[in-house]
Amino acid sequence: MSDTKETAELAICMGSSCFSRGNKHNIKIIKEYIDRHGLCGRVALKGHLCEGLCKDGPNITLNGEVFHSIDSASINVLLEENIRKQE
Ligand code: FES
Repeated sequence: MSDTKETAELAICMGSSCFSRGNKHNIKIIKEYIDRHGLCGRVALKGHLCEGLCKDGPNITLNGEVFHSIDSASINVLLEENIRKQE
């Protein structure tokens, strides 16, 4: 039997480039998503400083994998496919 209640680690780049190009909105979407689906204890959400990948941003790291060019549509797909599917 697999453990379906693992905690996902979600790290949002809060560097000025990623933040101004989309992560400012993405973080609100993520927080609303966590609240709406009662995932508070299952998602460890944190921010980090610029990692030098600005040209590919906005960047979000999920469980150690970096996802690039994340907009409001792709963040919802990312959350649905990588967090809710594990329920
Ligand atoms: S601001 Fe996000 S990688 Fe530079």
